[in-house]
Amino acid sequence: MPASPKLYSEFAKYYDRLESQYRDYWKEAKWIETLLESSHSKRLIDVSCGTGSHLERLLKLRIERQYVGMDSSSQMVRITCAKLDNLAPSREILLADFLKAPFQSGSFDSAICMYWSLAGLNPSQTKELFREIGRILQPSGLFIFDVENAEGIKENLLNSPFIDAFFSDDETGSNIIRANLSKKIEADLVDWHAYYLLEREGVSELINDEIRLRFYSKSDLESILGDTGFKVQQVLSSPGGAYQAGSPSLYFVAQKMK
Ligand SMILES: C[S@@+](CC[C@H](N)C(=O)[O-])C[C@H]1O[C@@H](n2cnc3c(N)ncnc32)[C@H](O)[C@@H]1O
Repeated sequence: MPASPKLYSEFAKYYDRLESQYRDYWKEAKWIETLLESSHSKRLIDVSCGTGSHLERLLKLRIERQYVGMDSSSQMVRITCAKLDNLAPSREILLADFLKAPFQSGSFDSAICMYWSLAGLNPSQTKELFREIGRILQPSGLFIFDVENAEGIKENLLNSPFIDAFFSDDETGSNIIRANLSKKIEADLVDWHAYYLLEREGVSELINDEIRLRFYSKSDLESILGDTGFKVQQVLSSPGGAYQAGSPSLYFVAQKMK
């Protein structure tokens, strides 16, 4: 499995605090639920469940469905298991690579893959992932995902550092500050660096992290989906919102062709 950035491994315990400022998980979950309901989905997989934020909310919206989560980070899997424990004692959460999903063909009628999950892939891996998701979906199964739009990169956030988090971890007695610095290295590739400053009892430690984030164009994704056996149902700029050219994000709803 590919090496995980620290945000998904040793800093996974801070992931929700760091990232929920950028996402409206309830809005996304409610939108996903309306799509699942209209397609009568009975068994969903989140192929990169992270800390289980979508699964937790989907379960709260509708318990009568089978939910499976997987992620390639053991820390993320552990957090998801803990989060869902009281909600769904029989939940199935596993450590696995979404490029080699350990399921038989046609195991699910819906799949989700949310928030930067495609950002670490190159174009041929994206194709491989879509084929793999197509394999584990039943005919007409739904595939819902979002990406960052190559035509909507927030140029004002590039090349200048900014701090987006400053909080205390009561368990360890540490203060944590995150500073970010992103540089565009290709038209659709951004090199993101994070610098975590941990301060405890007057002693400071600086830990750096890095992810190469791939942005995607709508037309490229439409073509990859077509090549991998999907029909695009919707492309939106926000969950349930309309499509607007140049929006920062793109939300796709695709259906596996029969
Ligand atoms: C930005 S997080 C998004 C997590 C979650 N979907 C959310 O919306 O918060 C990306 C997730 O993709 C997972 N991931 C990356 N590569 C993966 C792979 N090859 N197989 C499964 N999960 C992967 C990471 O471990 C991480 O949890």
